[in-house]
Amino acid sequence: MSLVDRFGREHRDLRISLTDRCSLRCTYCMPADGVPWLARSTMLSTDEIVHVARVGVSLGITEIRLTGGEPLLRVDIVDVVRRLTALPGSPEVSLTTNALRLPGLASSLKDAGLSRVNISLDTLDRQKFLQLTRRDKLVETLAGIAAADAAGLHPVKINAVAMRGVNDDEVVTLTRFAVERGYQMRFIEQMPLDAGHTWDRAEMVTQAEILASLRSAFTLTEVPSRGAAPAELWTIDGGPATVGVIASVTAPFCGACDRLRLTADGQLRACLFSQTETDVRSLLRGSPPPDGAEIGVGPAQAMRIGTQAAPRPAPVPADVDAALAEAFRRCLAGKKAGHDIDDPSFLQPDRPMSAIGG
Ligand SMILES: C[S@@+](CC[C@H](N)C(=O)[O-])C[C@H]1O[C@@H](n2cnc3c(N)ncnc32)[C@H](O)[C@@H]1O
Repeated sequence: MSLVDRFGREHRDLRISLTDRCSLRCTYCMPADGVPWLARSTMLSTDEIVHVARVGVSLGITEIRLTGGEPLLRVDIVDVVRRLTALPGSPEVSLTTNALRLPGLASSLKDAGLSRVNISLDTLDRQKFLQLTRRDKLVETLAGIAAADAAGLHPVKINAVAMRGVNDDEVVTLTRFAVERGYQMRFIEQMPLDAGHTWDRAEMVTQAEILASLRSAFTLTEVPSRGAAPAELWTIDGGPATVGVIASVTAPFCGACDRLRLTADGQLRACLFSQTETDVRSLLRGSPPPDGAEIGVGPAQAMRIGTQAAPRPAPVPADVDAALAEAFRRCLAGKKAGHDIDDPSFLQPDRPMSAIGG
């Protein structure tokens, strides 16, 4: 059985957000005081996450990426990884993290079956790191990156969101840092997913600008056959080192998208920019969805969770696995051809990136 949408895209990649909480406050993601956190009672338990993932894997999911918020804040993160990698079909499990907890966790995560890590590092300048993340944690981040490398969580991929006047002067420095250590550097175009809704298309640093900076220092050769990967890759000075650009805005790759997302509060999303979600938490708990939110309809219903309406009768599915499989298909049925960021009717989703799972 496979998860094919109406545009023929086969979905193999499930991004699971383990929490919306984060240990940093990156200016392009969250305000200084954070955001209204998801109510703890709405967060999926580890059993529930593994249950949804098991059904996803039975439908054709082969890769699981754990994210957040900051996934390493989840106290049972090693157990989560161990249980997901042990699922029938042995999905590949990887992690996107700010690396702060990696010095203490990297080798246990490797032993639990984690395959690799993507680590966010937007600057190598301590003062700038403090301004950008509102935490003085550059030294700890670098220690976390080294710990991932030492534990064999390869390839170590370093992600930086390119920002005008902030770190666009560090494109070459960050790339050299990565190449010298055998990591892969990837630059991300900033997307309209910040909690403050301040994203400005005219201000964002484009793929063309990132490549121009890189070409000022390196000879780049495009690597063909990118498949469903978000990053387009170039070899640096003949290789083998590569650098990537995730050009979600100026060169969207939706046509090959194979990703589905599960939020920490149990909502399936077909796209980062979806305006609708499919509620699997209610299915898992045998309770009706919050008032006004039918499965698969209603914008970002989880934002309203916590103000539960009076219980109303709803059929509790006898076979939860079948209901979850149906929820995956229903979610996929609503997936659009593209994110339409450049369409005048585009609306930024209610949920910020931290509550969706980047
Ligand atoms: C939301 S974070 C969650 C995982 C983890 N805490 C981390 O730092 O990688 C995942 C990725 O999303 C990126 N990100 C956050 N907001 C973004 C935005 N508005 N546009 C593009 N990327 C963004 C971050 O830089 C990071 O690489």
